[in-house]
Amino acid sequence: MPGAELIGHEELAEIQRLFDARHVNLYRYGPGNFTARELEARFAEVMGVRYAHAVSSGTAAIHCALAAAGVGPGDEVIITAWTFIAPVEAISALGAVPVPVEIDETYHLDPQEVERAVTGRTKAVVAVPMWAPPRMDELAEVCRRHELVLIEDAAQALGASYKGRKLGTIGRVGSFSFDAGKTLHTGEGGMVITDDRDMYDRVAEFSDHGHMHLEGLPRGKDPRRARGLNYRMSELTAAVGLAQLGRMDMILERSRQHKRQLKDRIAHLEELSFRVFSDEDGAQGDTLIFAVENREAALRFEQDLLERGIGTKILPEAFEWHFAGAWEHLLPCYDRYRGKDLKRLWPKTLGLLERTICLNIPVLMSEEDIEKTAEAIMYATSRISR
Ligand SMILES: Cc1ncc(COP(=O)(O)O)c(C=O)c1O
Repeated sequence: MPGAELIGHEELAEIQRLFDARHVNLYRYGPGNFTARELEARFAEVMGVRYAHAVSSGTAAIHCALAAAGVGPGDEVIITAWTFIAPVEAISALGAVPVPVEIDETYHLDPQEVERAVTGRTKAVVAVPMWAPPRMDELAEVCRRHELVLIEDAAQALGASYKGRKLGTIGRVGSFSFDAGKTLHTGEGGMVITDDRDMYDRVAEFSDHGHMHLEGLPRGKDPRRARGLNYRMSELTAAVGLAQLGRMDMILERSRQHKRQLKDRIAHLEELSFRVFSDEDGAQGDTLIFAVENREAALRFEQDLLERGIGTKILPEAFEWHFAGAWEHLLPCYDRYRGKDLKRLWPKTLGLLERTICLNIPVLMSEEDIEKTAEAIMYATSRISR
Protein backbone atom coordinates (compact mmCIF):
# COMPACT_ATOMS: atom_id res chain seq x y z
CA MET A 1 0.00 0.00 0.00
CA PRO A 2 2.72 2.42 -1.08
CA GLY A 3 1.43 5.98 -0.58
CA ALA A 4 -0.48 5.03 2.57
CA GLU A 5 2.74 3.84 4.21
CA LEU A 6 4.23 7.31 4.03
CA ILE A 7 1.42 9.54 5.30
CA GLY A 8 3.02 11.88 7.84
CA HIS A 9 4.65 15.26 8.36
CA GLU A 10 4.77 16.35 4.72
CA GLU A 11 1.02 15.83 4.30
CA LEU A 12 0.42 17.69 7.57
CA ALA A 13 2.57 20.59 6.37
CA GLU A 14 0.44 20.92 3.23
CA ILE A 15 -2.73 20.93 5.31
CA GLN A 16 -1.19 23.58 7.57
CA ARG A 17 -0.41 25.68 4.49
CA LEU A 18 -4.07 25.45 3.55
CA PHE A 19 -5.25 26.55 6.98
CA ASP A 20 -2.69 29.37 7.07
CA ALA A 21 -4.14 30.67 3.81
CA ARG A 22 -7.70 30.16 5.17
CA HIS A 23 -8.59 28.34 1.99
CA VAL A 24 -10.14 25.26 3.42
CA ASN A 25 -13.73 26.45 3.06
CA LEU A 26 -13.41 28.09 -0.30
CA TYR A 27 -14.98 26.69 -3.38
CA ARG A 28 -12.40 25.91 -5.99
CA TYR A 29 -14.26 26.91 -9.12
CA GLY A 30 -14.24 30.52 -8.07
CA PRO A 31 -11.17 32.72 -8.62
CA GLY A 32 -8.12 32.11 -6.42
CA ASN A 33 -5.22 29.77 -5.77
CA PHE A 34 -6.89 26.54 -4.98
CA THR A 35 -4.96 23.50 -3.84
CA ALA A 36 -7.00 21.14 -6.03
CA ARG A 37 -6.02 23.27 -9.04
CA GLU A 38 -2.38 23.09 -7.98
CA LEU A 39 -2.63 19.32 -7.66
CA GLU A 40 -4.27 19.03 -11.09
CA ALA A 41 -1.57 21.16 -12.73
CA ARG A 42 1.26 19.15 -11.16
CA PHE A 43 -0.39 15.83 -11.91
CA ALA A 44 -0.87 16.81 -15.57
CA GLU A 45 2.79 17.82 -15.74
CA VAL A 46 3.98 14.54 -14.19
CA MET A 47 1.82 12.52 -16.56
CA GLY A 48 2.69 14.66 -19.60
CA VAL A 49 -0.94 15.42 -20.51
CA ARG A 50 -2.82 18.64 -21.19
CA TYR A 51 -5.59 18.19 -18.64
CA ALA A 52 -6.07 16.61 -15.23
CA HIS A 53 -9.22 16.87 -13.16
CA ALA A 54 -9.29 15.94 -9.45
CA VAL A 55 -12.33 14.14 -8.03
CA SER A 56 -13.48 12.53 -4.80
CA SER A 57 -12.56 8.88 -5.51
CA GLY A 58 -11.38 6.42 -8.14
CA THR A 59 -14.99 5.31 -8.58
CA ALA A 60 -15.97 8.92 -9.25
CA ALA A 61 -13.05 9.23 -11.68
CA ILE A 62 -14.09 6.29 -13.88
CA HIS A 63 -17.74 7.37 -13.64
CA CYS A 64 -16.77 10.83 -14.94
CA ALA A 65 -14.56 9.33 -17.67
CA LEU A 66 -17.33 7.05 -18.93
CA ALA A 67 -19.93 9.84 -18.83
CA ALA A 68 -17.58 12.20 -20.69
CA ALA A 69 -17.02 9.52 -23.33
CA GLY A 70 -20.75 9.62 -23.97
CA VAL A 71 -21.57 6.22 -22.46
CA GLY A 72 -25.31 6.10 -21.79
CA PRO A 73 -28.42 3.94 -21.64
CA GLY A 74 -28.30 0.85 -23.84
CA ASP A 75 -24.61 1.17 -24.76
CA GLU A 76 -22.42 -1.86 -24.21
CA VAL A 77 -19.04 -1.36 -22.58
CA ILE A 78 -16.43 -4.10 -22.76
CA ILE A 79 -14.38 -4.62 -19.63
CA THR A 80 -12.18 -7.30 -18.12
CA ALA A 81 -13.71 -10.11 -16.05
CA TRP A 82 -10.93 -9.50 -13.49
CA THR A 83 -11.20 -6.06 -11.92
CA PHE A 84 -12.43 -4.50 -8.73
CA ILE A 85 -16.13 -3.94 -9.31
CA ALA A 86 -16.00 -0.09 -9.31
CA PRO A 87 -15.79 0.50 -13.11
CA VAL A 88 -18.58 -2.05 -13.64
CA GLU A 89 -20.75 -0.18 -11.13
CA ALA A 90 -20.02 3.07 -12.98
CA ILE A 91 -21.01 1.56 -16.36
CA SER A 92 -24.20 0.26 -14.77
CA ALA A 93 -24.96 3.61 -13.08
CA LEU A 94 -24.94 5.27 -16.51
CA GLY A 95 -27.57 2.82 -17.74
CA ALA A 96 -25.09 1.02 -19.97
CA VAL A 97 -24.46 -2.72 -20.10
CA PRO A 98 -21.14 -4.01 -18.71
CA VAL A 99 -19.72 -6.78 -20.92
CA PRO A 100 -16.92 -8.54 -19.04
CA VAL A 101 -14.57 -10.62 -21.19
CA GLU A 102 -11.88 -13.18 -20.46
CA ILE A 103 -8.35 -12.23 -19.46
CA ASP A 104 -5.19 -13.57 -21.06
CA GLU A 105 -1.96 -14.75 -19.44
CA THR A 106 -1.01 -11.13 -18.64
CA TYR A 107 -4.12 -11.08 -16.40
CA HIS A 108 -5.63 -8.36 -18.60
CA LEU A 109 -8.23 -8.02 -21.36
CA ASP A 110 -7.52 -10.51 -24.12
CA PRO A 111 -7.73 -8.44 -27.36
CA GLN A 112 -9.18 -11.40 -29.27
CA GLU A 113 -11.95 -11.77 -26.71
CA VAL A 114 -12.61 -8.04 -26.98
CA GLU A 115 -12.93 -8.36 -30.75
CA ARG A 116 -15.38 -11.23 -30.32
CA ALA A 117 -17.52 -9.23 -27.85
CA VAL A 118 -17.98 -6.18 -30.11
CA THR A 119 -21.55 -5.62 -31.34
CA GLY A 120 -23.36 -2.75 -33.02
CA ARG A 121 -24.15 -1.39 -29.53
CA THR A 122 -20.60 -1.38 -28.20
CA LYS A 123 -19.51 2.14 -27.28
CA ALA A 124 -16.27 1.76 -25.35
CA VAL A 125 -13.61 -0.59 -24.04
CA VAL A 126 -12.29 -0.10 -20.51
CA ALA A 127 -8.77 -1.44 -20.01
CA VAL A 128 -8.02 -2.03 -16.34
CA PRO A 129 -4.27 -2.39 -15.81
CA MET A 130 -3.63 -4.51 -12.73
CA TRP A 131 -0.27 -2.98 -11.69
CA ALA A 132 1.11 -3.66 -15.18
CA PRO A 133 0.20 -2.85 -18.77
CA PRO A 134 -2.38 -4.80 -20.80
CA ARG A 135 -1.60 -5.45 -24.50
CA MET A 136 -2.39 -1.81 -25.27
CA ASP A 137 -1.36 -1.75 -28.95
CA GLU A 138 -3.74 -4.56 -29.79
CA LEU A 139 -6.56 -3.11 -27.69
CA ALA A 140 -6.09 0.30 -29.34
CA GLU A 141 -6.18 -1.35 -32.75
CA VAL A 142 -9.47 -3.16 -32.00
CA CYS A 143 -10.95 0.14 -30.78
CA ARG A 144 -9.70 1.99 -33.85
CA ARG A 145 -11.15 -0.61 -36.21
CA HIS A 146 -14.58 -0.57 -34.57
CA GLU A 147 -14.61 3.16 -33.72
CA LEU A 148 -14.81 2.54 -29.97
CA VAL A 149 -13.56 4.82 -27.22
CA LEU A 150 -10.60 3.33 -25.36
CA ILE A 151 -10.74 4.25 -21.68
CA GLU A 152 -8.07 3.32 -19.13
CA ASP A 153 -9.18 2.76 -15.55
CA ALA A 154 -5.64 2.93 -14.23
CA ALA A 155 -6.72 3.11 -10.57
CA GLN A 156 -4.26 0.35 -9.68
CA ALA A 157 -1.49 1.38 -12.02
CA LEU A 158 -0.39 4.97 -11.45
CA GLY A 159 3.27 5.05 -12.47
CA ALA A 160 3.09 2.04 -14.80
CA SER A 161 3.82 2.36 -18.52
CA TYR A 162 3.60 0.46 -21.79
CA LYS A 163 6.50 0.72 -24.25
CA GLY A 164 7.52 4.01 -22.64
CA ARG A 165 4.02 5.56 -22.58
CA LYS A 166 2.45 6.18 -19.19
CA LEU A 167 -0.70 4.17 -18.50
CA GLY A 168 -3.69 6.45 -18.39
CA THR A 169 -2.37 8.46 -21.35
CA ILE A 170 -2.88 5.85 -24.08
CA GLY A 171 -6.69 5.81 -24.24
CA ARG A 172 -8.79 8.91 -24.87
CA VAL A 173 -9.22 9.33 -21.14
CA GLY A 174 -7.63 7.73 -18.08
CA SER A 175 -8.67 7.55 -14.44
CA PHE A 176 -6.88 6.94 -11.13
CA SER A 177 -7.69 6.27 -7.48
CA PHE A 178 -5.90 7.55 -4.40
CA ASP A 179 -7.50 5.15 -1.91
CA ALA A 180 -5.50 3.24 0.68
CA GLY A 181 -4.32 0.51 -1.69
CA LYS A 182 -2.93 2.72 -4.46
CA THR A 183 0.38 4.30 -5.52
CA LEU A 184 -0.63 7.63 -3.94
CA HIS A 185 -2.98 7.96 -0.99
CA THR A 186 -5.17 10.88 -0.01
CA GLY A 187 -7.71 9.14 2.24
CA GLU A 188 -10.19 9.07 -0.64
CA GLY A 189 -9.61 10.71 -3.98
CA GLY A 190 -9.14 10.26 -7.71
CA MET A 191 -7.98 11.95 -10.90
CA VAL A 192 -9.02 11.93 -14.55
CA ILE A 193 -6.54 12.82 -17.31
CA THR A 194 -6.89 13.47 -21.03
CA ASP A 195 -5.41 15.45 -23.90
CA ASP A 196 -8.87 16.11 -25.31
CA ARG A 197 -10.34 19.50 -24.34
CA ASP A 198 -13.94 18.47 -24.88
CA MET A 199 -13.45 15.31 -22.81
CA TYR A 200 -11.89 17.37 -20.01
CA ASP A 201 -14.75 19.87 -19.99
CA ARG A 202 -17.30 17.08 -19.83
CA VAL A 203 -15.44 15.32 -16.99
CA ALA A 204 -15.33 18.60 -15.01
CA GLU A 205 -19.02 19.22 -15.68
CA PHE A 206 -20.08 15.70 -14.67
CA SER A 207 -18.13 16.01 -11.41
CA ASP A 208 -19.92 19.28 -10.56
CA HIS A 209 -23.67 18.85 -11.22
CA GLY A 210 -23.24 19.78 -14.87
CA HIS A 211 -21.86 23.29 -14.21
CA MET A 212 -20.12 24.39 -17.39
CA HIS A 213 -17.67 26.70 -15.58
CA LEU A 214 -17.84 29.35 -18.27
CA GLU A 215 -15.35 32.13 -17.82
CA GLY A 216 -16.74 35.41 -16.53
CA LEU A 217 -20.05 33.91 -15.41
CA PRO A 218 -20.94 33.64 -11.73
CA ARG A 219 -21.50 30.05 -10.62
CA GLY A 220 -25.25 30.52 -10.24
CA LYS A 221 -25.53 31.56 -13.88
CA ASP A 222 -23.57 28.61 -15.31
CA PRO A 223 -25.46 26.84 -18.09
CA ARG A 224 -25.73 23.03 -18.27
CA ARG A 225 -25.69 20.61 -21.23
CA ALA A 226 -25.57 17.29 -19.39
CA ARG A 227 -26.32 15.78 -16.01
CA GLY A 228 -23.81 15.51 -13.23
CA LEU A 229 -23.18 14.72 -9.58
CA ASN A 230 -21.00 16.14 -6.84
CA TYR A 231 -17.67 14.35 -7.25
CA ARG A 232 -15.50 17.37 -6.39
CA MET A 233 -12.23 16.88 -4.55
CA SER A 234 -11.95 18.80 -1.28
CA GLU A 235 -9.09 21.18 -0.64
CA LEU A 236 -7.97 19.06 2.32
CA THR A 237 -7.70 16.00 0.12
CA ALA A 238 -5.79 17.95 -2.51
CA ALA A 239 -3.31 19.16 0.11
CA VAL A 240 -2.50 15.55 1.04
CA GLY A 241 -2.25 14.73 -2.66
CA LEU A 242 0.36 17.42 -3.26
CA ALA A 243 2.67 15.96 -0.61
CA GLN A 244 2.12 12.44 -1.92
CA LEU A 245 2.74 13.39 -5.54
CA GLY A 246 6.12 14.80 -4.55
CA ARG A 247 7.13 11.33 -3.42
CA MET A 248 5.85 9.34 -6.37
CA ASP A 249 9.24 8.70 -8.00
CA MET A 250 10.66 7.41 -4.74
CA ILE A 251 7.60 5.20 -4.14
CA LEU A 252 7.89 3.63 -7.59
CA GLU A 253 11.64 3.19 -7.47
CA ARG A 254 11.60 1.44 -4.10
CA SER A 255 8.61 -0.79 -4.84
CA ARG A 256 10.21 -1.89 -8.11
CA GLN A 257 13.54 -2.55 -6.47
CA HIS A 258 11.94 -4.61 -3.66
CA LYS A 259 9.89 -6.58 -6.14
CA ARG A 260 12.97 -7.34 -8.25
CA GLN A 261 14.90 -8.52 -5.21
CA LEU A 262 12.06 -10.70 -4.00
CA LYS A 263 11.40 -12.16 -7.43
CA ASP A 264 15.08 -12.99 -7.87
CA ARG A 265 15.06 -14.84 -4.53
CA ILE A 266 12.14 -17.06 -5.53
CA ALA A 267 12.68 -17.33 -9.29
CA HIS A 268 13.97 -20.91 -8.93
CA LEU A 269 10.68 -22.22 -7.51
CA GLU A 270 9.29 -24.33 -10.34
CA GLU A 271 5.92 -24.76 -8.63
CA LEU A 272 5.17 -21.03 -9.14
CA SER A 273 4.03 -19.75 -12.54
CA PHE A 274 4.89 -16.06 -12.67
CA ARG A 275 2.59 -13.93 -14.75
CA VAL A 276 3.50 -13.03 -18.32
CA PHE A 277 3.99 -9.33 -19.11
CA SER A 278 3.30 -7.22 -22.20
CA ASP A 279 6.11 -4.96 -20.91
CA GLU A 280 7.62 -6.00 -17.58
CA ASP A 281 9.78 -2.87 -17.28
CA GLY A 282 6.57 -0.85 -17.29
CA ALA A 283 5.02 -2.62 -14.27
CA GLN A 284 4.12 -0.35 -11.39
CA GLY A 285 5.98 -2.56 -8.94
CA ASP A 286 3.98 -2.89 -5.74
CA THR A 287 2.42 -6.28 -6.48
CA LEU A 288 3.86 -9.69 -7.27
CA ILE A 289 1.60 -12.22 -8.98
CA PHE A 290 2.08 -15.94 -9.49
CA ALA A 291 -0.14 -18.98 -9.90
CA VAL A 292 0.08 -22.37 -8.22
CA GLU A 293 -1.41 -25.68 -9.32
CA ASN A 294 -5.04 -25.31 -8.22
CA ARG A 295 -7.47 -23.57 -5.85
CA GLU A 296 -6.73 -25.89 -2.97
CA ALA A 297 -3.02 -25.17 -3.27
CA ALA A 298 -3.68 -21.40 -3.44
CA LEU A 299 -5.77 -21.45 -0.26
CA ARG A 300 -3.18 -23.52 1.53
CA PHE A 301 -0.44 -21.18 0.29
CA GLU A 302 -2.38 -18.21 1.68
CA GLN A 303 -2.70 -19.89 5.09
CA ASP A 304 0.97 -20.80 5.22
CA LEU A 305 1.97 -17.23 4.35
CA LEU A 306 -0.37 -15.85 7.01
CA GLU A 307 1.17 -18.18 9.57
CA ARG A 308 4.45 -16.43 8.85
CA GLY A 309 2.95 -12.96 9.06
CA ILE A 310 2.60 -12.31 5.30
CA GLY A 311 -0.83 -11.31 3.99
CA THR A 312 -2.05 -11.61 0.40
CA LYS A 313 -3.59 -8.81 -1.70
CA ILE A 314 -6.89 -9.38 -3.58
CA LEU A 315 -6.08 -12.96 -4.53
CA PRO A 316 -7.03 -15.29 -3.13
CA GLU A 317 -8.64 -13.52 -0.17
CA ALA A 318 -10.87 -10.98 -1.97
CA PHE A 319 -11.46 -13.04 -5.10
CA GLU A 320 -15.24 -12.49 -5.10
CA TRP A 321 -15.03 -8.71 -5.37
CA HIS A 322 -12.77 -8.88 -8.40
CA PHE A 323 -14.32 -11.55 -10.58
CA ALA A 324 -17.33 -11.11 -12.89
CA GLY A 325 -18.60 -14.59 -11.98
CA ALA A 326 -19.26 -13.34 -8.44
CA TRP A 327 -21.23 -10.19 -9.33
CA GLU A 328 -24.58 -11.85 -8.77
CA HIS A 329 -26.11 -8.71 -7.26
CA LEU A 330 -25.40 -6.68 -10.42
CA LEU A 331 -25.10 -8.61 -13.68
CA PRO A 332 -28.43 -10.50 -13.59
CA CYS A 333 -30.34 -7.22 -14.00
CA TYR A 334 -29.28 -7.41 -17.68
CA ASP A 335 -31.07 -9.81 -20.04
CA ARG A 336 -27.87 -11.37 -21.29
CA TYR A 337 -26.87 -12.58 -17.79
CA ARG A 338 -30.28 -13.26 -16.21
CA GLY A 339 -30.75 -16.89 -15.17
CA LYS A 340 -27.18 -17.78 -16.17
CA ASP A 341 -24.67 -19.53 -13.94
CA LEU A 342 -22.23 -16.60 -13.87
CA LYS A 343 -19.37 -18.69 -12.52
CA ARG A 344 -19.32 -20.63 -15.79
CA LEU A 345 -19.33 -17.67 -18.17
CA TRP A 346 -15.62 -16.82 -17.88
CA PRO A 347 -13.94 -20.23 -17.42
CA LYS A 348 -10.45 -19.16 -18.46
CA THR A 349 -10.45 -16.20 -16.07
CA LEU A 350 -11.89 -18.32 -13.27
CA GLY A 351 -9.32 -21.07 -13.88
CA LEU A 352 -6.45 -18.60 -13.64
CA LEU A 353 -7.70 -16.46 -10.75
CA GLU A 354 -8.66 -19.42 -8.57
CA ARG A 355 -5.06 -20.53 -8.36
CA THR A 356 -3.38 -17.13 -8.23
CA ILE A 357 -1.62 -15.42 -5.35
CA CYS A 358 -1.03 -11.64 -5.28
CA LEU A 359 1.42 -10.18 -2.80
CA ASN A 360 1.77 -6.56 -1.78
CA ILE A 361 5.31 -5.19 -2.04
CA PRO A 362 5.73 -2.38 0.51
CA VAL A 363 7.80 0.75 -0.04
CA LEU A 364 9.12 0.49 3.49
CA MET A 365 10.77 -2.89 3.30
CA SER A 366 14.13 -3.75 4.85
CA GLU A 367 16.50 -6.43 3.54
CA GLU A 368 15.27 -8.60 6.44
CA ASP A 369 11.64 -8.06 5.41
CA ILE A 370 12.45 -9.16 1.87
CA GLU A 371 14.24 -12.23 3.19
CA LYS A 372 11.36 -13.03 5.55
CA THR A 373 8.86 -12.78 2.69
CA ALA A 374 11.04 -14.94 0.42
CA GLU A 375 11.37 -17.56 3.15
CA ALA A 376 7.62 -17.56 3.77
CA ILE A 377 7.04 -18.11 0.02
CA MET A 378 9.60 -20.94 -0.05
CA TYR A 379 7.97 -22.53 2.99
CA ALA A 380 4.48 -22.29 1.45
CA THR A 381 5.84 -23.69 -1.82
CA SER A 382 7.45 -26.64 -0.07
CA ARG A 383 4.08 -27.48 1.52
CA ILE A 384 2.15 -27.52 -1.76
CA SER A 385 4.78 -29.58 -3.55
CA ARG A 386 4.57 -32.44 -1.05
C1 LIG B 1 -9.81 -0.62 -11.29
C2 LIG B 1 -10.40 0.19 -10.18
N1 LIG B 1 -11.20 1.21 -10.47
C3 LIG B 1 -11.73 1.97 -9.51
C4 LIG B 1 -11.48 1.71 -8.19
C5 LIG B 1 -12.17 2.53 -7.15
O1 LIG B 1 -11.34 3.43 -6.50
P1 LIG B 1 -11.84 4.12 -5.16
O2 LIG B 1 -11.70 3.13 -4.05
O3 LIG B 1 -10.91 5.29 -4.99
O4 LIG B 1 -13.23 4.54 -5.37
C6 LIG B 1 -10.64 0.67 -7.82
C7 LIG B 1 -10.33 0.39 -6.42
O5 LIG B 1 -9.68 -0.56 -6.06
C8 LIG B 1 -10.08 -0.12 -8.85
O6 LIG B 1 -9.28 -1.16 -8.59
